[in-house]
Amino acid sequence: MTSAGGAKMWGGRFERPPDASFYEFERSWQYDRRLLPQELALDRAWARAIAAAGILTQEESRRIVAALDEIETRAQSDAAWLDASDAEDVHHFAETALIEKLGPLGAKLHTGRSRNEMVATEFRMYVKQAAGEMRRAVAALLRAIASQAESHLGVPMPGTTHLQHAQPLLLSHWILAHGQAFERDAERLAAAAARADVCPLGSGALTGCAFPINRKALAQDLGFSRISANSLDAVSDRDFALEALFTLATLATHLSRLAEDMVLFATPEFGFIDLPDEYSTGSSLMPQKKNPDAWELIRGKTGRMYGALVSVFTTCKGLPTSYQRDLQEDKEPFFAAYDQALAMTQIAAATLAATGFREARLREAAQDPALVATEVADYLVAQDIPFREAHEIVGKLLRAAEQDGRSIRELPLERLREFSPVFGREVETVLTLESALARRGIAGGTAPGAVRAALKEFQARLVQLEENP
Ligand code: ARG
Repeated sequence: MTSAGGAKMWGGRFERPPDASFYEFERSWQYDRRLLPQELALDRAWARAIAAAGILTQEESRRIVAALDEIETRAQSDAAWLDASDAEDVHHFAETALIEKLGPLGAKLHTGRSRNEMVATEFRMYVKQAAGEMRRAVAALLRAIASQAESHLGVPMPGTTHLQHAQPLLLSHWILAHGQAFERDAERLAAAAARADVCPLGSGALTGCAFPINRKALAQDLGFSRISANSLDAVSDRDFALEALFTLATLATHLSRLAEDMVLFATPEFGFIDLPDEYSTGSSLMPQKKNPDAWELIRGKTGRMYGALVSVFTTCKGLPTSYQRDLQEDKEPFFAAYDQALAMTQIAAATLAATGFREARLREAAQDPALVATEVADYLVAQDIPFREAHEIVGKLLRAAEQDGRSIRELPLERLREFSPVFGREVETVLTLESALARRGIAGGTAPGAVRAALKEFQARLVQLEENP
């Protein structure tokens, strides 16, 4: 058995140091070093707060803040220093570095505070920042959607349900449908940031700080708009992480659905898009292949977000009230999910922007006469035939057309009249793609005018988002 050396933050009551393998097992520095900027910001704010409470002199506080600045500068340029540290966690790392610089003065900073509240505070700061970063990435994706919608305004495509031809729609309407989902994700990210925007500092280990620090000033110093209301809840609450993870999982779900559409559209059977070389790969065996890997990986990585959410839920479930060491398991899944979700969103935006849509092929596919079957039923309804009866008539008519080896558009008027005497010459006009589209001018519908209006509103909201990330 080998033991782990180095001064701990809690060594006094122990006779022997921790076993080396256990120390490796319980440490979090390997991954919570990512919180070092938040840790140092918190440390500076705490130095100011305890000086204001009379625990440090102004001069002591100033020296601590200056030393923390130096630690930050070195950390930014000297990764080997961070790599070499055997700190237990990010709080231990900062305290060790501070004591190395300032001796006993550095050892004063931890007065009145606990790592339990520190980690909750720093994680919340990180989630707020991550949500902002994600919103910027989603805004870039929405921008790519708006550009594609604008450059292909008026281009029709077959709309499907159950992947069967249903009714025609506009390509811009299809891509803006994805845009709606990602807009909701941007809203949810803002809500997740707001949920995290509560400062636990002053909660102590669990019962509240025994020194008269000004919690509101401290929270404000760290960019929080509120302070937590109950110290015990503050050190154990991880709802903010769960909500952020749910938001990422939902975003990933939307990305996977866009990805699936794109993978299908890239097949020769659909042939709706040209895959961009920059975001595709080939086959080592089959020379002709160009594969939609960007979309497949986006689709494939979605499970990681679900895994992270379930993992943190499971960590939190059934925990006794207060801080428990289990809670250390909250950060790794979040960091991993965030890194992947950010990359997925950025790659989706870039790949979509570089994708070419084959307008001629889309127009041709949208000419399928089956797509206007609903129009014939609606035509009969306009001649005062009850809809259920009209549906039945058109069904029979389509079956007859199939037997005749013709499309519904090719049936002569006399043949149509065998199924209903109300058919008149003007039925031809309702059987066109243009008419089917134009009849959906309702708000939220796929008529060219409605889509143009929807795109305008979408762009206006996007500008808002880009200006307030
Ligand atoms: N590394 C710990 C975490 O991530 C920090 C809090 C440690 N608190 C404790 N009582 N050991 O949760």
